[in-house]
Amino acid sequence: MCGIVGYIGNGEAYPMLLKGLKSLEYRGYDSAGFAIVNKGIAIEKDIGRIEDVEKKIDLSMLKGSAGLAHCRWATHGSVTKSNAHPHADCSNKIVVVHNGIIENYSQLKEKLMQKNHAFSSETDTEVIAHLIEEYMKNSGFEEAVRNALKEVNGSYALGVICADEPDKLVAARNESPLIIGKGSNGMFIASDIPALLEYTNSFVYLHDRETAVLGKGSIAISDLEGAKKNFKVSRINWSREDAEKGGYKHFMLKEIYEQPRAITETLNGRLKNGNVIFEEEINLSDKEILEIEDVKIIGCGTSWHAALVGKFMFEELAKITTEVEYASEFRYRNPIIKKNTLVIAISQSGETADTVAALKEAKKLGVKTIAICNVRGSSITRAADGAVYTMAGPEIGVASTKAFTTQLAVLYLLTILFSKARKTLNDRQIKDMIDGIRKIPLQMASVLNEDMEIMNCAELYHKKTNSLYLGRGVNFPIALEGALKLKEVSYMHAEGYPAAEMKHGPIALIDENMPVVFIAPHDIYTHSKILGNIEEVKARGGIVIAIATEGDSEIPKKAGHTIFIPKTLYTLSSMLAVIPLQLLAYHIADKLGRDIDKPRNLAKSVVVE
Ligand code: G6P
Repeated sequence: MCGIVGYIGNGEAYPMLLKGLKSLEYRGYDSAGFAIVNKGIAIEKDIGRIEDVEKKIDLSMLKGSAGLAHCRWATHGSVTKSNAHPHADCSNKIVVVHNGIIENYSQLKEKLMQKNHAFSSETDTEVIAHLIEEYMKNSGFEEAVRNALKEVNGSYALGVICADEPDKLVAARNESPLIIGKGSNGMFIASDIPALLEYTNSFVYLHDRETAVLGKGSIAISDLEGAKKNFKVSRINWSREDAEKGGYKHFMLKEIYEQPRAITETLNGRLKNGNVIFEEEINLSDKEILEIEDVKIIGCGTSWHAALVGKFMFEELAKITTEVEYASEFRYRNPIIKKNTLVIAISQSGETADTVAALKEAKKLGVKTIAICNVRGSSITRAADGAVYTMAGPEIGVASTKAFTTQLAVLYLLTILFSKARKTLNDRQIKDMIDGIRKIPLQMASVLNEDMEIMNCAELYHKKTNSLYLGRGVNFPIALEGALKLKEVSYMHAEGYPAAEMKHGPIALIDENMPVVFIAPHDIYTHSKILGNIEEVKARGGIVIAIATEGDSEIPKKAGHTIFIPKTLYTLSSMLAVIPLQLLAYHIADKLGRDIDKPRNLAKSVVVE
């Protein structure tokens, strides 16, 4: 779980590598390093964030027009200067940066040590440099990289440079993200697209077990046997501004505020004449939709919470039995999957290792699969039979916000599509659903206007150490998501629970120091029950913050603070109710001075198991 950037061209490499790397710092921030080719290869690296490394070393002396950069999130080997990337072979001529895990590195290391290779780090990555060195005794640079990789088990996104072949940068990937950027003044590699938006909008996606040889103006891709592969250059319409903070204090806040636009983009072109149109995206015929007996949705973290909302929608409206699984559990438990099951994998990045592996497991079982994803060309979109993109734009803050609500929007559109095809809803109901979601962007904007009240709650309660989030039905996953947001960015302990389950345990925790956030949009079935739950909390001295529907006159009488969301369909209320919880987590973390966009120990996409 690290970030990689590489460049070869006519420009000065270091400033571009630095800029790219800074935008990848969300992927890992315990050490950083650079390697620049210039009559040999100069390597500079140290522990700490990029800005700390910049303070310790005068990196501006790194001159040259080809190089690699890396920010690390330690897996093999502790956080030390010697374990920081780049890593080199014995002669310091072959230099690599790597993201992923080399599973057989100890066997390879032993073999290489027997051949007198001297190691200077505890990392799995270093074996790659020595292995290439070994193969270069009998072959050229790129062939040596391919031969070395044939011996490697595990995941890698790799950038390699060689002092003896200064006009080449070799890249490779297997189960870790890596894209190639085709610029007008040189070629790039990076772990994600935003890292390169300043320099290009043209990208080539590398597939698993492929290598690329980049020259100043050339790209050649081949498999590990050296057979040439055709490739396509895709244009991405994300702008550089999309990947910058645009005046907001943090990316997380900017991304929370971008949600009305992100939903508009996600709906764009997909609602026509009372129908949901996914073109070929989902790759399912009407007949196949009718034949679906079960749905399984897999994901991790926030995407798993979106999956829970999806289950509620599919069962309630499309009447399809739906199970939600953590991707990490699904892949290791021989799941029973009936022939007509549809497996949906949800992932913002499309690179979460467990989700990619779980999706591949499902494919092995021969069922239809769809990815819901924010990143074009990412691993899950390539592995699935169909891919529906959330149009959230680049999400940089580690805590997911706009990706979550756009995932909910896509799940809602799928619900309409399935309900219509299976005739579980009539035309009137479908129309109401479509009208409902069309209003969501404007309604989100009005929820964002509640920010002052939310900031006020943050001011009052940011010094508390525990909190509870309670919700029911479609808003139970929102309770989980609200609690997760708070934990991620503020480090305050928080738990999400189904509101009625509170009585079976968490109620014991409630006292005057415990804020309890009720997600209580109006719902005819459970509203009175939630009012009862609020009374129970108040009776024990708990502090109540409630999210309620505009016009609700009961909740404000009981809650200490009420944040209103506009009236919408119950299934859509989750999309609005989550916004105050995102803002609450953000403001609490901000008041505590946390590193909101890069919370400790977390990473944006977990590409290791
Ligand atoms: C990490 C991130 C979360 C994200 C999860 C799943 O834990 O910090 O924000 O929800 O991974 O990521 P994905 O890209 O698969 O949605």
